[in-house]
Amino acid sequence: MKTRLTERYRLAHPIVSAPMALVSGGRLAAAVSAGGGLGLIGGGYAGILGGEPDLEAEFDLAGTEQVGIGFITWALAKAPGALDRSLARRPALVFLSFGDPRPFSGAIRASGIDLACQVQTLSHAQQAVEAGATVLVAQGTEAGGHGGGRSTMPLVPEIADYLAQRSPATLLLAAGGIADGRGLAAALMLGADGVVVGSRFWASAEALTPAAAVERAIRATGDDTVRTRAIDRVRGVPWPEEFSFRVVRNRLADQWAGREDDAAAQFGSLAAEYAEARTRLDFDMMAIVAGECVGLIKDRPSAGSVVIAMAAEAERLLRRGPDGW
Ligand SMILES: Cc1cc2nc3c(=O)[nH]c(=O)nc-3n(C[C@H](O)[C@H](O)[C@H](O)COP(=O)(O)O)c2cc1C
Repeated sequence: MKTRLTERYRLAHPIVSAPMALVSGGRLAAAVSAGGGLGLIGGGYAGILGGEPDLEAEFDLAGTEQVGIGFITWALAKAPGALDRSLARRPALVFLSFGDPRPFSGAIRASGIDLACQVQTLSHAQQAVEAGATVLVAQGTEAGGHGGGRSTMPLVPEIADYLAQRSPATLLLAAGGIADGRGLAAALMLGADGVVVGSRFWASAEALTPAAAVERAIRATGDDTVRTRAIDRVRGVPWPEEFSFRVVRNRLADQWAGREDDAAAQFGSLAAEYAEARTRLDFDMMAIVAGECVGLIKDRPSAGSVVIAMAAEAERLLRRGPDGW
């Protein structure tokens, strides 16, 4: 499949792996790129959260494969040196999500590196276009991790229409709920040039995800995820109000998911307990971060085989069309 994405980054398949904090290290990014997609390193909170992998080491692990890097924009604003260090590693693109990209776009574009902005609303899309993004990623609420409230199915074509009018040269990717070739084929039909896939790669061999978390996700269905602001509040991570966190239900989520106001009043009350749970990998107490598509995830294959199978299935479905359903 040839799209504007595959042409721009010389990819075999229009598949990008999400820059997942604490999950997308250099090995995963390189495995996705070696499989014919584009792998992104998760720059996450740019070091402000603590316990995050060293980005220089992750770039080294990616070796000679073409990879990009992503940051959580509001966190990057608190760690500006991180961006310069990453630009020096000449990533294929810098992916910003969750905050205004405009303060960073000058430095990124002046380095000759593409800016990709993940957006959750039309007003975010407008900011991204103003920032001069080469790629917009329309992220639906189905996504694992942080996100907004719009659904992938109507958000992607609405942003495709917006870009067709305002900035036709900007590439568009779809994210949120895409875990197999059916999702990829659907995203292309919605007007995307490719997809950003998180949860499916979270459960791949090269991801930094602990085995115990993947085992729980494999047992879950798509009914077992919840989107909430409460977990960030009790663990004391200052996420902007407009973003919530999709996780797989566990004891922590069951205790807190519906109690966002209580959690705000108790901001940070579980910070120490949460940090301690992370050291023990206690998945009753720490978040299991994956999206609604956990219901489609039954194994932990290599990331390269995920890329190849997803592309092959999408191609087969698109060639066949609706006949045979
Ligand atoms: C474990 C996990 C961590 C994530 N961390 C980040 C992050 O640090 N920065 C970011 O921009 N997006 C992050 N995301 C969201 C992804 O960029 C992407 O939008 C999402 O995974 C797509 O939906 P899917 O999980 O259904 O594939 C994360 C997603 C997951 C599952």
